[in-house]
Formats: sequence, C-alpha cells, structure tokens
Amino acid sequence: MSQVKTLAEFIVERQHEFTYATGELSQLLTSFRLAGKMVNREVNKAGLAEDILGAQGTENVQGEQQQKLDVYANDLFIRLLRSQGMVCAVASEENDDIVHFDNGGKYVVTMDPLDGSSNIDVNVSIGTIFSIYRRLSTGDKAAMEDFMQPGTAQVAAGYIIYGSSTMLVYTTGHGVHGFTLDPSIGTFCLSHPDMTTPADGSIFSVNEGNLHDFSPGIQRYIDDCKKQRMSARYIGSLVADFHRNLMKGGIYLYPATAKAPKGKLRLLYEANPLAMIVEQAGGMATDGSARILELKPTELHQRTPLLIGSKAMVEKLRSM
Ligand code: AHG
Ligand code: MN
Ligand code: MN
Repeated sequence: MSQVKTLAEFIVERQHEFTYATGELSQLLTSFRLAGKMVNREVNKAGLAEDILGAQGTENVQGEQQQKLDVYANDLFIRLLRSQGMVCAVASEENDDIVHFDNGGKYVVTMDPLDGSSNIDVNVSIGTIFSIYRRLSTGDKAAMEDFMQPGTAQVAAGYIIYGSSTMLVYTTGHGVHGFTLDPSIGTFCLSHPDMTTPADGSIFSVNEGNLHDFSPGIQRYIDDCKKQRMSARYIGSLVADFHRNLMKGGIYLYPATAKAPKGKLRLLYEANPLAMIVEQAGGMATDGSARILELKPTELHQRTPLLIGSKAMVEKLRSM
C-alpha cells in the first residue's frame, strides 16, 4: 500500500509556504476541514433526516430562498471559525452584513457555505467555497476595507465538493492540492497533489436557457463550441461544474443576463476563490474584460459575470 498522507499532515509539511506565521494556516484550515466533515455527514443522510431537506422559509439578503442546509452549513462554519480564534470576522452569502467575532484575529473569511442550493433536495453534488484574507484594519472590529480587497490579496482559497466522494481542494498560492474524505476513518487524505488544469479543453458549461440574453460575442462562442462538437455539461452547482472542468479541461460561463445584468455569481464568495484556484492550476478567470482577481470590490454581495477555465478557451472567448 502506498503511503497515506492526511490533510492535517500535509498542511504542517507545507506551512513554510504560508507568508504569515507558521501554524496559523493549519489553525485556519482546521475549521474548514472539520465543518466540511460535519456538513458532509448531514448531506449524506439528507433524504432520511426530516429537518434538513427543503426550504427554510426565509430569504437571504439577495432575495433568494434559503434552504435548511444553507442555514445549517452557514451556522456551522461560523461557529467553528468563531471558536478557533484566528479569524475576526466573516462575510457570508447567507448573512446581510459582516459577522464580527471580536477576538482580535488577524484574518477575515468570505464564504458561500452551501453552493448549489437548488440541487440539495435532488441528490446532486453541492459544495462549499471559501477564501481567507489578512486583515488590514487596526481598530477593535474588522472594517469593510478588510473585505474590499481584490482577489490578488487572498492568502488562501478552497472549496469542498460533496459529490460521489467528498473532496477538499485548496491553495495558498503555491499550487493546488486535493484531498478525498475517507468516510471509514473520517479523514481527508491527499489524493490530488499539485493539480493542474489542461491548457485547452472540450467541455463548455453554461445555462443555455439564458442564451438569448447573452451578448452576441458569447452567443457566437457557444455556437463555435457546438460546431467543434464539444461536450455540453452543466450541473447547476458551480463547485461541481468547476471541479469537473478543472480536472478535465473546459470552460464555465455565467455571463450577464437580462435578469442578472451584472451576472449572477458573487465576486467575494464564488468568483475570487475559484479564480485563485484556477490560476494556480494554470487556467484563467475573467469577467469578460478584466482579470477577476484584479477587480476592486465595492460591496459585500457584489455580483460579477464569470468566464473561467482552461486558458486557451477563456482567451478565445475573450477575443470574441
Ligand atoms: P448558490 O446555491 O450558492 O446560490 O449558488 C447557485 C449558483 C451556482 O452554484 C450555479 O452555478 C448557478 O447558481 C446556477 O444558476 P442557474 O440555475 O441560473 O443556472
Ligand atoms: Mn453559490
Ligand atoms: Mn450558497
């Protein structure tokens, strides 16, 4: 049997790559590792537990129906981050405002605790997306400026995919590493060291129901994918679509639509963390004109068009 390396061991081994104090990264990632396992447990028994499937009966700040699992995951990540002490505040897709911990922590976190909400009740892969920034402000509490940093300032980013197997993938700016949860021992084990994405691909992922809302350039690109007989693959969970394309090579598009003129996906919770990961893996992410990671956020729940994936595909789309 080849040697098994756990996520905890790997983080310790690589923590010299982390710009800030040794040990801080492992503490930071511990909350996500643990919460990921706990959400995974709920996801796996979702069909059996009456209190976890379905709508919560509330809306988030963006007017979207919250699912029970959205709220469960959000509360859990916040609880664990609060108790662990490194993070002083969190901005979540599910909270209107910044959640402060008042603990003097040196980091702030942004997250989409449960991505792919519409797929929860139908047994389709869902995920969690997170990113970590160094705090800039020096007052008692974290300030808005701490969250308005461009994606280039992320010190780490990652996602967890609750799929046919559960994986945690993260980067600190020194490559991308993937860990698969072994449910028999409840441990994330290194399964995908130094992940890279193919420079080109033959998968395009887009909600084509919106085709007639897209700009002529985007429509031409999609038509071109079809002329080349590429594969259309769209799950409707960004994490799952992104993960597949990262592994196989492809492009994911969520352009502006009539219903969502600034795009649907959120810069802080979805686009920035995945953009950091894709760039670390050799791919590219843009909003159509600018690099995602260089966008300067102006509000917490800011949306952005997102074109992300294999470099050759994103470059071709951009040229169109
Ligand atoms: P969330 O569940 O966190 O609100 O995110 C849903 C997002 C994303 O996961 C997915 O790619 C996209 O919405 C799907 O949108 P459409 O249903 O409009 O295609
Ligand atoms: Mn999402
Ligand atoms: Mn979500």
